[in-house]
Amino acid sequence: MKLLVTGGAGFIGSAFVRLLLAERPDCHVVNLDKLTYAGNLENLAAVADSPRYRFVKGDIADGPFVMDLFAQQKPDAVVHFAAESHVDRSILSPDPVVRTNFYGTFCLLEAARVHGVARFHHVSTDEVYGSIEEPHDADENYPLKPSSPYSASKAGSDLLALSYHTTYKLPVTVTRASNNYGPYHFPEKLIPLMISNALEDKSLPIYGDGKQVRDWLYVDDHCRAVLAVLEKGRAGEVYNVGGSLALENVEVVRRILRATGKPDSLMITVTDRPGHDRRYALTSDKLERETGWAPLMPFDEGLSRTVRWYQENTGWVGRVKSGAYREYYEKNYAGR
Ligand code: NAD
Ligand code: DAU
Repeated sequence: MKLLVTGGAGFIGSAFVRLLLAERPDCHVVNLDKLTYAGNLENLAAVADSPRYRFVKGDIADGPFVMDLFAQQKPDAVVHFAAESHVDRSILSPDPVVRTNFYGTFCLLEAARVHGVARFHHVSTDEVYGSIEEPHDADENYPLKPSSPYSASKAGSDLLALSYHTTYKLPVTVTRASNNYGPYHFPEKLIPLMISNALEDKSLPIYGDGKQVRDWLYVDDHCRAVLAVLEKGRAGEVYNVGGSLALENVEVVRRILRATGKPDSLMITVTDRPGHDRRYALTSDKLERETGWAPLMPFDEGLSRTVRWYQENTGWVGRVKSGAYREYYEKNYAGR
């Protein structure tokens, strides 16, 4: 089986490629990635020499290039991770977000339709449901009410992918996962930013009152869910993937401070994110019932593994924080 994985040099995509090559000896992977600031081939050092792995640098939103790639590689299935994934960046600069997340998904769907792939798996997010009022948890039929350009572009691409199933009978599946954490996470998102700042004795910027709630999912649990849906999910269906652990942001940051042995005084309050969703909460009952998947990693163990990884990989952190990232961070966050 030959899989085209998009965005395989990013945080979750690289974990998925590593998992797939380790656990499915009959699988060959072509990784299509543009290597934006978030894409890093160091994340794939463990598989770079595998005869079953091939890297192709390219843009999913370049339609003719994508069509040619499908003609050359003839993938059996597509697992689509590539995206501009950061909400704050999507607020500051929505253009590449809409282009990659919506138009890029369209280019892949067209190529998949023309070349008749056996499965197109679209990796999406719980953010498409928007903020969810207590006591509800979103199931897959919950209304879509995205708040940011990022989540709206993901909701649009979910609907476009599902329309290719309805209209062209393309065997599409969609997963909507909650907040991931783990090794190789780019240090602009809450958990890796707070860990790397704490390790450097820098302040930890909490948006607003810090009482926003997120459901945390260890990255390998997410990757096993994607694999389960690829192998056992029904075409045309959406599956939520949650970690079954909802925590307020301040509580997550306190646990990071405890795990790194740093004082609470490092926490500072900064201006809130515009349109900030208050609470994400979802049920993964459908996925568990249909595929037998369940999240395996307890949060405190996953967090200490993640902290240890950042302590042991300061070189990786230093390299990803240099260059274009430094420019972005200093322009938008310096002095907070
Ligand atoms: P990431 O930002 O770490 O990686 C994104 C990857 O996509 C990078 O390797 C980047 O180079 C590549 N990419 C970006 N634009 C591209 C383009 N135009 N063409 C080709 N490649 C391009 O993202 P992530 O956190 O690993 O997220 C992966 C997917 O999972 C995304 O679709 C995201 O919406 C979804 N998701 C993420 C989370 C999370 O908590 N991080 C949760 C649920 C769903
Ligand atoms: O829910 C799934 C989504 O989770 C994914 O679709 C996105 O790709 C991923 O980036 C993530 O989005 P969030 O906006 O929830 O993640 P982020 O890590 O940016 O923020 C988590 C929470 O922490 C959110 O309430 C904002 C807050 N926050 C974030 C940062 C970066 C802070 O308080 N301070 C910060 O510096």
